Amino acid sequence: MTAVETDADVVLALEGIGRTYLSGEVEVAALAGVDLTVGRGEYVSIVGPSGSGKSTLLNILGLLDRPTSGSYRFEGLEVSGLDETERTAVRGRRIGFVFQAFHLLSHRSVLENVALSMLYTGVSSKDRTQRAREALASVGLEQRAEFTPTRLSGGERQRVAIARAIVADPALLLADEPTGNLDSKTSDSILGLFDGLRAGGLTIVMITHDASVAARADRSVRIRDGVLSAVGAAEHARGGSGGRLGTDSRGAAHQGAQS
Ligand SMILES: Nc1ncnc2c1ncn2[C@@H]1O[C@H](COP(=O)(O)OP(=O)(O)OP(=O)(O)O)[C@@H](O)[C@H]1O
Ligand SMILES: [Mg+2]
Repeated sequence: MTAVETDADVVLALEGIGRTYLSGEVEVAALAGVDLTVGRGEYVSIVGPSGSGKSTLLNILGLLDRPTSGSYRFEGLEVSGLDETERTAVRGRRIGFVFQAFHLLSHRSVLENVALSMLYTGVSSKDRTQRAREALASVGLEQRAEFTPTRLSGGERQRVAIARAIVADPALLLADEPTGNLDSKTSDSILGLFDGLRAGGLTIVMITHDASVAARADRSVRIRDGVLSAVGAAEHARGGSGGRLGTDSRGAAHQGAQS
């Protein structure tokens, strides 16, 4: 960590996070001793094979699940101790989600899908609609506002999901395999949108099993069997095709947040 670092520079800080599941009599450690700090404006990718703990970690970061051990500070606030109402409030106002399977409401218009995500944030109906239109314009879909998602291509659906994720102006955008259902050309244009959001100052954590997707981020963290390790800069630049340059999980944690 650098001397100038303050809470305001850090969006999230995990320390010693563990998550175990009880599978019959056996305890399965999906995450163990995870340390990770993400600075404001940083774009971090987390790359790992199937079953390595990626979604478990994303669910904890997004306050959808609680760790069984460790500390999670989000924007300076220890969130593991909050009750569900408080966690829902933080999630709704400060965190946006993009998933592989889009998760749009098929019987609502594109505009409603985006506007409804602000339903419980205290924004008036008129302002919700206005902000939804702006968010759709920012992903190039203002012409599709009245369509239902069923009439859109996969790439367009993911654009709607991104508009929905950013419309409430979150502090953190979490993405779980956002290009997993898309062909390579469409993936590239979606990744271009993430690049643009990062350039605009948004903090992004993207989970992927694809090293070339992970390489779009400022830095990459590898997860394997629930344990994090840093991906070296050279390997990251090559899209993770090289040897293992990782350090231990504390290295991964403390490499971050200097921006
Ligand atoms: N509810 C659960 N109960 C028991 N074990 C679970 C549960 N959820 C996840 N696990 C286990 O935790 C480990 C990590 O799962 P996780 O879903 O986080 O992996 P992942 O990296 O997201 O995989 P994928 O790339 O396939 O989505 C796996 O061994 C999984 O079987
Ligand atoms: Mg997963």
